[in-house]
Amino acid sequence: MQAYRSQLLRFNPSGQALHESDGMLVVCGDESGIQRVLDAGPYRDVARRHPRIPITHWPDRIVAPGFVDMHVHYPQTDIIGSPADGLLPWLENHTFPAEARFADPGHAAEVAAFFFDELLRQGVTTALTFCTTHPASVDAYFQRAERYGLRMLGGKVLQDRNTPEGLRDDTGQSLADSEALLQRWHNKGRLGYALTPRFAPTSSEAQLRGVGELAARYPDAWVHSHLSENHDEIAWVARLFPDARSYLDVYRRFGLLRERAVYAHCIHVDDADRRLMQETGAAAAVCPTSNLFLGSGFFDHLVADAHGLLYGLGSDVGGGTSFSPFRTMLAAYYVGRESHTKDGISLKPSKLWWQHTGGAARALGLEGVIGTLQKDSEADFVVLNPQATPLLARKTARAQDLEELLFALIVLGDDRLVERVVIA
Ligand code: GUN
Ligand code: ZN
Repeated sequence: MQAYRSQLLRFNPSGQALHESDGMLVVCGDESGIQRVLDAGPYRDVARRHPRIPITHWPDRIVAPGFVDMHVHYPQTDIIGSPADGLLPWLENHTFPAEARFADPGHAAEVAAFFFDELLRQGVTTALTFCTTHPASVDAYFQRAERYGLRMLGGKVLQDRNTPEGLRDDTGQSLADSEALLQRWHNKGRLGYALTPRFAPTSSEAQLRGVGELAARYPDAWVHSHLSENHDEIAWVARLFPDARSYLDVYRRFGLLRERAVYAHCIHVDDADRRLMQETGAAAAVCPTSNLFLGSGFFDHLVADAHGLLYGLGSDVGGGTSFSPFRTMLAAYYVGRESHTKDGISLKPSKLWWQHTGGAARALGLEGVIGTLQKDSEADFVVLNPQATPLLARKTARAQDLEELLFALIVLGDDRLVERVVIA
């Protein structure tokens, strides 16, 4: 058992932020060695309930849930900030050549190591990640995550058409490889496997059908793909699947809409699509830095909320421009302004924070497991230093309430804010 005394930020299951200016978090290892939250709250109350426990005291720091990145591509680490005229030229000119290098397992291992170190530096403790079509890229990813004891999700990309040589996989082999990798890594410790067809244009109908069959056979595995990011992409999908009502309808036809199915972007969808996602439990991973960088468009937070859509935030590196949750939350705020202009309402800082922690966990089907620091959940947390820069110190000292404090951290924060990361 171990206790941490500090400012404490948690969330209740409905997404409300709970803040103690002098708080205490008590964690205890379970039978498999995972540290879980045993107790949390105001220091004076919690300390009284656990009189002889060792206490680590971090005065003037903030203990908060580790961030959850709902959508990222580890093989795109080296192409972050590669300019293009839009999604499709960016894929062709930067992404596919970079991913082809992952045929070399040594390269995959080297990038995976950098990727996890970078995530942890930024305070991200769980991510749903694209690997590449190469099975060895998946082994490299999970081997490193396992070594660090992280709760990480990911999988082999399936793409058997409209793809350059070196990345294109064979339909039957891609399904066999996916199943073998799933059996090797899914639910191994804290790891989870995601069936990962890249997006509708790069998979044949046979491949999508096969992924749908695997998704039905392994209902607690994840499904991870892209949806309705860019107008040229959407027009391409309409040409390839002329019978589908919409881009989302392609995934529905192949049994790819269900709980734990996560679609990145979901920008240019209509209300029928939103209803279908809500009814099936499929979730959106909203990636604002990527959508701004590639000029893809603006996710409509207001309409998504009105439909009860499950969603959370992702970095989408390398389309996204930062691994930092603070940069992603700030970009989501800017994008939120776009859909809120009519009534002049801004996204609340605590809501942005929720969307990158407990809300993202809920959208991933990991409610109560990570993201909130609620009792019995896994104790992945960050220790933030609100004095990390002179401007942060000055601004946070003037915060009148929790929303002002969180907004100062979102607007001014980056990796310098993250002093320490503790993995359950
Ligand atoms: N659509 C298909 N592949 C990709 C990708 O790698 N990044 C983004 N942002 N969109 C995609
Ligand atoms: Zn992506």
